[in-house]
Amino acid sequence: MEQSKLEIKEKIRAFWDNSRQNYDSVEAHGVHSESEKNMWRQGMEKLLGQNFHLKILDIGTGTGFLALMLAEMGYSVMGVDWAASKIEQAKEKALSSNIPVQFQVLDAEKLSIESNTFDAVVSRHVLWTLSDPYAASREWARVTKRGGKVIVDIPRMCSHSGSHHFGAEIGKELPFYNGADPQKVEEMLKAAGLSNIRTMMLDTSNEEDKRTLLVYGEKA
Ligand SMILES: C[S@@+](CC[C@H](N)C(=O)[O-])C[C@H]1O[C@@H](n2cnc3c(N)ncnc32)[C@H](O)[C@@H]1O
Repeated sequence: MEQSKLEIKEKIRAFWDNSRQNYDSVEAHGVHSESEKNMWRQGMEKLLGQNFHLKILDIGTGTGFLALMLAEMGYSVMGVDWAASKIEQAKEKALSSNIPVQFQVLDAEKLSIESNTFDAVVSRHVLWTLSDPYAASREWARVTKRGGKVIVDIPRMCSHSGSHHFGAEIGKELPFYNGADPQKVEEMLKAAGLSNIRTMMLDTSNEEDKRTLLVYGEKA
């Protein structure tokens, strides 16, 4: 029987909202080396600059890797995720490391945040798991201030992440379940109303096809 979009979304949310899931210990999810973290730090600083008063929103923050790293660098950060258990873990990490981040349970495709609020919206490892990344990126552009940036990483081509995590039935309903051609992500950000769209590579792995590609665009 065909599953409705809402049923699919709820199954994906329930998958992530599992307090027994040890997310950070999974090789492909966590950032396990200081050098990989450094690459993220340098990449973000290059794109965001050193104005540490910037307000940044980390979408699909999970256990808070990017949000905590950006806050540690000095930016003012909010991390959102629709999985309450992930937000709890992120809050615990912030508390135990004494890093100030505001965390909140919110749907990336429908943010209850006023327009033009953040200087930058970032997301890592999220696009592939969204049932409607096009609606999501319009929301991310909406909450970005004029002159601000939306920065996303590209799900690796042929990764089959959607089917691995949720099964083939659900996987095939996700536009980027099997990765995305960078050009597709660039077109998506353009359709969301962003301009000056570019792609940047982070040297996060020795293997070239495993390096992180970031696509970013500006709100005019
Ligand atoms: C692969 S994890 C990435 C977590 C984190 N960004 C990181 O880099 O470790 C994907 C995260 O996106 C979240 N997510 C997926 N769809 C979402 C949605 N519609 N709204 C909010 N969060 C969502 C999941 O709950 C999960 O925590």
